[in-house]
Amino acid sequence: MGNKRSQVVWTYTYIIAVIVLAGVVTGAAPKKPVPVPFGKNYVPTWAFDHIKYLNGGSHIQLSLDKYTGTGFQSKGSYLFGHFSMRIKMVPGDSAGTVTAFYLASQNSEHDEIDFEFLGNRTGQPYILQTNVFTGGKGDREQRIYLWFDPTKAFHSYSVLWNLNQVVTISIWDSGSPSNQPMKIYSSLWNADDWATRGGLEKTNWSKAPFVADYKDFHIDGCQSSVNARYCATQGKNWWDQKKYRDLDDYQWRRLRWVRRKFTIYNYCTDRKRFPVMPRECKIDRDA
Ligand SMILES: *[C@@H]1O[C@H](CO)[C@@H](O)[C@H](O)[C@H]1NC(C)=O
Ligand SMILES: *[C@@H]1O[C@H](CO)[C@@H](O)[C@H](O)[C@H]1NC(C)=O
Repeated sequence: MGNKRSQVVWTYTYIIAVIVLAGVVTGAAPKKPVPVPFGKNYVPTWAFDHIKYLNGGSHIQLSLDKYTGTGFQSKGSYLFGHFSMRIKMVPGDSAGTVTAFYLASQNSEHDEIDFEFLGNRTGQPYILQTNVFTGGKGDREQRIYLWFDPTKAFHSYSVLWNLNQVVTISIWDSGSPSNQPMKIYSSLWNADDWATRGGLEKTNWSKAPFVADYKDFHIDGCQSSVNARYCATQGKNWWDQKKYRDLDDYQWRRLRWVRRKFTIYNYCTDRKRFPVMPRECKIDRDA
């Protein structure tokens, strides 16, 4: 059940992320994020001493060394909303490192929407890998190259998550949609067993510490308890309004352009793994 819902959620978040990454402003662009310091919405999750606070926390740095990476998470859980932060990925030789930005539910029916930025040797391209876990099951990877260098400047990474998925699901799912609140997470860690060229390129520890920079920790969401099924203000928020329910033609074109030019791997078109195309791929006009 959670399955289909999250697929839809994922598509929209991915689309929005791609559009925001591209810096495209359209009629249905999400509301402009308000830059707020880290401490307003987030707390460190682990290795607290590997997070450095600059300018009163309006700018933070995560660092990874031989001993540990680090990460942080939103204080609240949210059921729908707009989440955004600006990140400058680990520059130079970042092979083996992964910087992740993800939404995850807290309960046993684990849902997760992942954006993982896989580092590379100096001058070689990063990869953005996305995945979706529903009920603890993933296997929905997509990988693309980026059309800009994510280490040269801060770029906004946003997720717009709204009721639309509920609307969509109710069309093709007979069960009543269950929506799970999620927290937002980010982390930097070593994954040189798989991240860069499938694990061939190892982290060069003589280059440590590896540092990723963050700013503008905007959250505009419906805060809910971990097990809530409905957002208290459901239907009344700006992201619930009609123009945010689907992409317009221009945004679809933009998304197709990204998929066509930058796709490295898409599980939707992998007939070896999935002889029959997963259902959500068709619905999401994914392949
Ligand atoms: C790293 O660079 C190599 C060589 O250009 C490329 O094959 C690979 O896809 C790049 N990205 C990652 C994360 O491996
Ligand atoms: C690791 O970095 C050191 C110092 O910059 C360099 O001499 C060495 O060649 C690098 N190793 C790899 C495998 O890139």
